[in-house]
Amino acid sequence: MNITFLLNGEAVEVDTHPTRTLLDWLRDTQNLTGTKEGCNEGDCGACSVMITDDKGARALNACILFMPQLHGKAVRTVEGLAAPDGTLHPVQETMIDKHGSQCGFCTPGFVVSMATAHLNGRTDHDDVLAGNLCRCTGYAPIVRAAKSAEGTKIPDHMRDSPPVHLGKKTDILAPKTSDALAAWYMANPDGTLIAGATDVGLWVTKDFHDQTGKMGEIAFLNRCTDLQQIRDQGDTLRIGATVTMTDVLATVRTLHPSYANMIRRYGSEQVRNAATIGGNIANGSPIGDNPPALIALGATLHLRHGDSRRDMPIEDFFVEYGKQDRKAGEFIEAVTIPKSAPTLRCYKLSKRFDQDISTVCGCFNVTIENDTIIAACIAFGGMSGTPKHAKLSEVTLVGQPWSRVSIEAAAIALLDDFQPLSDMRASADYRMEAAQGQLRRYFDDLNGINTNILEISA
Ligand SMILES: Cc1cc2nc3c(=O)[nH]c(=O)nc-3n(C[C@H](O)[C@H](O)[C@H](O)COP(=O)(O)OP(=O)(O)OC[C@H]3O[C@@H](n4cnc5c(N)ncnc54)[C@H](O)[C@@H]3O)c2cc1C
Ligand code: FES
Ligand code: FES
Repeated sequence: MNITFLLNGEAVEVDTHPTRTLLDWLRDTQNLTGTKEGCNEGDCGACSVMITDDKGARALNACILFMPQLHGKAVRTVEGLAAPDGTLHPVQETMIDKHGSQCGFCTPGFVVSMATAHLNGRTDHDDVLAGNLCRCTGYAPIVRAAKSAEGTKIPDHMRDSPPVHLGKKTDILAPKTSDALAAWYMANPDGTLIAGATDVGLWVTKDFHDQTGKMGEIAFLNRCTDLQQIRDQGDTLRIGATVTMTDVLATVRTLHPSYANMIRRYGSEQVRNAATIGGNIANGSPIGDNPPALIALGATLHLRHGDSRRDMPIEDFFVEYGKQDRKAGEFIEAVTIPKSAPTLRCYKLSKRFDQDISTVCGCFNVTIENDTIIAACIAFGGMSGTPKHAKLSEVTLVGQPWSRVSIEAAAIALLDDFQPLSDMRASADYRMEAAQGQLRRYFDDLNGINTNILEISA
């Protein structure tokens, strides 16, 4: 498979296996060993690289980035941060000045994340750096270094141009339209679709699916432009399946601030820059963060199989654990959400604030008129084998006054709605108490009581 891209400003043409990761390629063939391998599963950020395409520059984890995803883009590694004459990048200077490095293993990943944020004028350093793990220095000196570099001149060599002229010659399977994708998937119904690869990457690095032949034929979705669109349809938004979580976050920030606050805690900057909303729905995880929010919003899922399309309320897609209502050769095209849901609240409970999967995720959307609840849409992740409506709890609320008594009755109904499991994240009892607590929190939240305890900053 032939691909072309810019590596630290130089054009390269590579013949690659489709599931070779950028991290392996850099270290094994280019001797670019500054990019480190820590976890090899997207968690630590030691392998962060800067990727530039026509949408701009973003930090990604090279360990779960497949080579074909780079075609026509620009890659900048830690070796490419200093100027060609050896002058250090401003964030490299401030890391030295502020003592931001001890053992140094994490440092290349940190400076790549910091340099990308510096290029993009970002000053939300806690969010930017949440996907970079440091075990010895501690975050305070690193954040001081990032702050200290704010506003300093962006070195010219950091402005990589998207090398569109390189994007001609390739034989990777990356359909440019959903029509082409639909035709390919009909012909290869057992093939594997790769969107952001934040799940599929781990199938390769941890489960070795490529070596056991489980992947079959592969199609990359990242060049399929019509799946990347967000369409304003008046009262609703149609979000294409390959819109990244970074772009979903930017889109819902003002429309659904509580949903946006939850997405802010979805993985890390690097994970959100890769992961797509369609991939997060398609994997059918009971603890994925989007599905409960989308169920509470009453979202509609759009599926396509060849030339035929069908729509469904999103909760119907999740049939049971590990089973979704999707035929072989059928794919997600988009999801439609309402633009207005002023009482939507999303609460993600996880052991760590950033970069952690939910233990329980509760999303609530109740309509109240004249102090009476006239509609209730409540969904949970982590409470059963699929993300699911709390149907009995909803029925208990509708027609009742908006009061603590009604909420307590709904909390009792949750005991019949769900029989959660115990696992490494939490016991069944803990999950149930947490879900009931989230319902009570919702009541206080809508009544203007501060329920948010955040946060210690450097
Ligand atoms: C470090 C780390 C942290 C994470 N944190 C979170 C978190 O906080 N919350 C959370 O919810 N998830 C989290 N995840 C999980 C992951 O990010 C999501 O499940 C992600 O959204 C998957 O999207 P993707 O585009 O990367 O999918 P991919 O890995 O490309 O694909 C996932 C699956 O979906 C299929 N697929 C992709 N697109 C389509 C489509 N359009 N139609 C049909 N099938 C499709 C693929 O074939 C595959 O089976 C994390 C993952 C990592 C590695
Ligand atoms: S090696 Fe840990 S995120 Fe890539
Ligand atoms: S300096 Fe040692 S891990 Fe960060």
